[in-house]
Amino acid sequence: MHPEIIKTDHLVREAIAAIERAADTAIFERGEFHIGLSGGRTPRPVYEALAKRQDAWEGWVFSFGDERCVPPDHEQSNYRMAREALFDRAPIPAGNILRIRGEDDPAQAAAAYEAALRARSGNAPHYRHDILLLGMGDDGHTASLFPGTAALGETGAWVAANEVPQLATTRITLTYPVINAARHVIFLVDSKGKEEMLEKVFSGTHDFPCNRVRPAQGNLTWIVGV
Ligand code: 6PG
Repeated sequence: MHPEIIKTDHLVREAIAAIERAADTAIFERGEFHIGLSGGRTPRPVYEALAKRQDAWEGWVFSFGDERCVPPDHEQSNYRMAREALFDRAPIPAGNILRIRGEDDPAQAAAAYEAALRARSGNAPHYRHDILLLGMGDDGHTASLFPGTAALGETGAWVAANEVPQLATTRITLTYPVINAARHVIFLVDSKGKEEMLEKVFSGTHDFPCNRVRPAQGNLTWIVGV
């Protein structure tokens, strides 16, 4: 699969356009739009722009690609960032936000989040995001799939409590079975300081965690802010 690579100085606009297109299709075809949110800094302005949309939010189901093992009001919480940028600014039904309970025991939080995804998957083999937003770290990680960590090899569980020695912490993360079940994965990457890593990733000659994102029956797009 060859990913679509969009290099732009309008990352937010490109991201919103892709999300709106996918939402229109998903709601028309299936009555629901399942979007997975990424953490980090890059997506925040996208969520703030999304909060300004005037259309109805019914049918939009939000989930997360990963979460830090902190309470939801902690400054490092991905949920807190999304709440401040989006959920507090738009009439999104609380029941349509699938939060990873970073405040709980990591294994329990992973199991509970996987159960929540399974509860919305019907008989499908995997939960299928219509859009899954991901970021790329300067080490080539994505979600909380960091180089050399155990969750990279997970082929059964949809969610893992992943020990990340390089951060001396545990993170909760989606695994590749669910990531690669998405209808459309969109990487949102601000290229500043990541130019070299992006070149290596796009060269296809490396096996960084983000290189293993290859939706089996979906699209892959990189929106790269230049
Ligand atoms: C997280 C994210 C992580 C992030 C990258 C890029 O929890 O931090 O899931 O994978 O997307 O580290 O982060 P920036 O957007 O801040 O560069």
